[in-house]
Amino acid sequence: MKILLTGGTGYIGSHTAVELINLGYEVELLDNLFNSKITVLDKIEEITGVKPVFHKVDLLDRAGLDKVMAEGHYDLVIHFAGMKAVGESVEKPLKYYENNIGGTINLLNSMKKYDVSKIIFSSSATVYGDQGVEEVKEDMQTGIGITNPYGRTKFMIEEILKDVSVANPEFQIVILRYFNPVGAHESGLLGEDPNDIPNNLMPIIMKVSTGELDKLKVYGDDYDTVDGTGMRDYIHVVDLARGHVAAMMKMEEGVSIYNLGTGEATSVLQMVAAFEKASGKKLPYEIVGRRAGDLGKIYANVEKAWRELDFKTELTIEDAMNDTINYLEHVE
Ligand code: NAD
Ligand code: UD1
Repeated sequence: MKILLTGGTGYIGSHTAVELINLGYEVELLDNLFNSKITVLDKIEEITGVKPVFHKVDLLDRAGLDKVMAEGHYDLVIHFAGMKAVGESVEKPLKYYENNIGGTINLLNSMKKYDVSKIIFSSSATVYGDQGVEEVKEDMQTGIGITNPYGRTKFMIEEILKDVSVANPEFQIVILRYFNPVGAHESGLLGEDPNDIPNNLMPIIMKVSTGELDKLKVYGDDYDTVDGTGMRDYIHVVDLARGHVAAMMKMEEGVSIYNLGTGEATSVLQMVAAFEKASGKKLPYEIVGRRAGDLGKIYANVEKAWRELDFKTELTIEDAMNDTINYLEHVE
């Protein structure tokens, strides 16, 4: 089986590449390197012994994409490529719609042209919007109360994939709704590159621990949660990568949707405490007001992934913290 990973040098794509290569699959990566580095290929080789074929192509470059697809004879595409900075998407909505939606449409057209009919898409828990419940399930209505263009691109792409499935019943489509990916590869060689301006909790904790930021701003301590701070379902990136392998095994015609989370929620202050325990250092923080658009608590209902994919997470928050600290010690 030959698999193309779009966005393959990125955080989640690179970890998935490692899992797939270790299982003996032939993997090729496509990326425009907008938010990742070419050196990731050497790290993948260091871990697996295999340097995957790499295509430096932008999904908006239709001719370049068609060439890769025509020559690749892929059995499956895992589509990670996309821009993901929530704040930036509010400033530059057209860029996000063009890149994420335009890129996906180009990809689907190219797949159709060259008879590739299996795709796994990286969606997000953000499509649930505000359901008024904490535990969210795949069959809930989506798209209501999404607070930013980034989130809306994920919702819109899900809808596009459903339409494509109606028109092309031979397509096998899996939508994976990721909860909050954290952690790094245990080797310390791969992780979330903390170079860009982070909005998410874990990259900010990393920047505070290295002294690049002086403190973490905790967005609100008046939610109805264990300690008043926001609670999320943090999934170790290696478990998340394994979730793709599990989904790949069970692909069938039509659209299948799965949450990929742990089914547990952890608060911001619990994350801070876990980081402090793993690093042995205090992490300076300050409680500030709530962030606009934030929910108090949201976590995955994981029954469908258990039942249909036989997928359960194995790694803990403690593992994620230890692996993140190890990664920080390796980063050049
Ligand atoms: P990432 O930025 O590390 O990886 C995405 C990769 O896509 C990058 O290497 C980037 O250079 C590439 N890319 C972007 N636009 C491209 C284009 N037009 N052509 C070619 N390559 C392009 O992000 P990640 O955390 O690995 O996320 C992977 C996917 O999962 C994204 O679609 C993201 O929206 C989704 N997701 C991520 C999270 C998260 O918190 N990390 C949560 C939910 C969903
Ligand atoms: C955010 C995005 C969501 C996106 C997801 C993954 C918003 C409103 N939501 O979700 O659309 O899909 O990232 O990219 O931006 N926190 C702090 N201080 C910080 C950063 C975060 O206290 O500096 C808290 C948040 O309030 C939240 C938790 O940490 O309770 C996790 O935040 P974050 O990592 O941004 O993820 P989400 O809020 O789940």
